Amino acid sequence: MLVSELELPNLDATATGAGPKNRDVLAGLAAQSWLVRHPFGYLLTRHEDCVAVLKDKRWHSATKLISQLKGITDERYLERQKRPSILSMEGDEHQRLRRLVSPAFTPRSADRLRPFMREVIEELIEPFVATGRCEFVSDICEPYPIPIICQLLGAPREDWEQFSQWATTIFQVFNDDLADHVDEVVDAGIALEAYVRGLITERRKEPRDDLLSEMIAAEEEGDRLNETELVTMVEAIILAGTDTTRNQLACAIATFVDHPDQWARLADEPELANRATEESLRYLGAIRATGRFASEDIEYRDITFPAGTLVFPSFVAANHDTDMFEEPDRFDIEADRSGATHLTLGFGLHYCLGANLARAELQEALSILATRMPNLRLDGEITWKPDGFGIWGPARLPLAFDTPSLG
Ligand code: HEM
Repeated sequence: MLVSELELPNLDATATGAGPKNRDVLAGLAAQSWLVRHPFGYLLTRHEDCVAVLKDKRWHSATKLISQLKGITDERYLERQKRPSILSMEGDEHQRLRRLVSPAFTPRSADRLRPFMREVIEELIEPFVATGRCEFVSDICEPYPIPIICQLLGAPREDWEQFSQWATTIFQVFNDDLADHVDEVVDAGIALEAYVRGLITERRKEPRDDLLSEMIAAEEEGDRLNETELVTMVEAIILAGTDTTRNQLACAIATFVDHPDQWARLADEPELANRATEESLRYLGAIRATGRFASEDIEYRDITFPAGTLVFPSFVAANHDTDMFEEPDRFDIEADRSGATHLTLGFGLHYCLGANLARAELQEALSILATRMPNLRLDGEITWKPDGFGIWGPARLPLAFDTPSLG
């Protein structure tokens, strides 16, 4: 049977704009059906089906369809989208890129940066420890990942500010109003590209202990990344590795504000930071779904998905699937959730390349913040970013906590 002929529930408009509550909406839909009609295609609501699609080579990443879905016709933009990027490549070419760069993303490479991550988070929280209040999104989350990505790549400190500005501009690709900003996005992309080419030239002459030097040297049976591949790899790392971390940290803290007992447990036992990170990723993820399109006609569960059909594995629904997680709506950093994996870092062929780094960034931040922000509470209202395909989390998170004299 053709998928279009099925009687399916619709993802109704209340699911968008529901913020963290959209997990209740999705849970309701998941209880009705594993497949739900979505304005652009179909939403997958069960862990098992999300995993099956994410493992299957015939389902291709929908990243390259973003411009089409957003109605972008700007030629400069479309031309730049044709450059090979790990985010949108598939098949052997994609596997080749991953094989070449994966050795640079091991847990050990991430561990090398832990002392630096601690320094960055200590420096960011320091001014607020005495006052006992901060607006967590702009004060801590926004700046946190930039020095780390720069340090990872080997960009010098004096360039961080510039780097951050390019990154912020380029992130508009995920916004619904991309069409209004397409010129700025292309200009920032061109400027960043020139900058990265300069860094590559420097590192070719004089390699250092950084990711860029490792990617330049990466070789497998005589095969290496060419310069364009290196440039688009760096862009992919900035795009995929900055805003995600920011929003995930804000999502985690927003969750802990609601669970003060768990925050106190973490402060007592900072070694729980690994489990706190995994549970935060599962409970409230900054990436709530991804998109795939059928590269050919695909039969799945006796249903035909014609070539071009778009499906959206819902990480929110999968991470709260009662078949996989016991009491999924309970946030518990000590629960044994080892029987199943959450999908917030993806799964299968495009699984997050920076997963070790992302985990390290969250673990270091959470263990330090739990001791530096005791008795954490809201100091106003949380506002949430609008739902969409983009990276999601609190837009504003005003916090209060005890100062050392009080605590
Ligand atoms: C908490 C932070 C992060 C989250 C939630 C996250 C999530 C994800 C997800 C869900 C995917 C798969 C998307 C898909 O299947 O369509 C992905 C891919 C990717 N991530 Fe992350 N990510 C995070 C941090 C990072 C960091 C820090 C880096 C790099 C330093 C990074 C680099 C990448 C890259 C390059 C890919 C593409 C892999 C591929 O297509 O083969 N991510 N990430």
